[in-house]
Amino acid sequence: MVTAIDARMKLHRHKTPQQRPRSEVAQIAALHCQTVWRRPIAAHSTAAFAAVRDRVERSGQTLIIDSCCGTGDSTRHLAAAFPDSLVLGLDKSAHRLARHRGAEDSNYLLLRTDVRDFWRLAHDAGWRAWRHYLLYPNPYPKPSQIRKRWYGSPALPALLNLGGVLTVRTNWSFYAEEFVVALDAVGVEAKWREIATERPITGFETKYLARGDALFELVGDLNVGVGGAK
Ligand SMILES: C[S@@+](CC[C@H](N)C(=O)[O-])C[C@H]1O[C@@H](n2cnc3c(N)ncnc32)[C@H](O)[C@@H]1O
Repeated sequence: MVTAIDARMKLHRHKTPQQRPRSEVAQIAALHCQTVWRRPIAAHSTAAFAAVRDRVERSGQTLIIDSCCGTGDSTRHLAAAFPDSLVLGLDKSAHRLARHRGAEDSNYLLLRTDVRDFWRLAHDAGWRAWRHYLLYPNPYPKPSQIRKRWYGSPALPALLNLGGVLTVRTNWSFYAEEFVVALDAVGVEAKWREIATERPITGFETKYLARGDALFELVGDLNVGVGGAK
């Protein structure tokens, strides 16, 4: 018989977040970078890429990619901060993108797409990012979810292949710490630190700041020393 306490314990176990950085992160990242990822690219991803390809390739501007941009607040912010660049905000959620406040204007655009496909299509087209932002990606904090985090995912080589200076922000220090370990395993030096900001640039950053969470940022130059990405 399953008691109410058993059920609560089960629920608790199910939800327990990871308590410390995982040691196998380096191994997982290195393995992904030595393996060709054969996941097919969806037809809608190819169509989404085609919709912006011309604009990006004709712009002559440095390219900033804001992956998993949610409502695109950060995309708008980056476009204002880097007026000479073209900023591409990517997210798979039509619902989030529809809540964008602001007009996509001369130097930014938002696109609904799965970045796991978009990154590969962009690399195949010969694109290089100047900067790449990944702000508050889903943390997948349960130990069993390590391969869903971007640095443990088979999509990691596709992210690395686009180059650029990568900036990742998170409210979970392990995520930043493990990301640095994963990058180190493929020859990219990155550093993470706690940041203090009073002017949030994304929806999640606003939420985390309001509830007093600590925020962390890692920065690494993907143009230097990416080892073995296929
Ligand atoms: C926690 S939210 C953060 C959104 C935004 N960067 C912010 O800070 O407010 C994570 C976002 O990642 C997006 N996402 C997750 N997996 C994705 C994928 N494979 N391709 C594109 N977007 C994805 C989700 O739709 C969601 O908007």
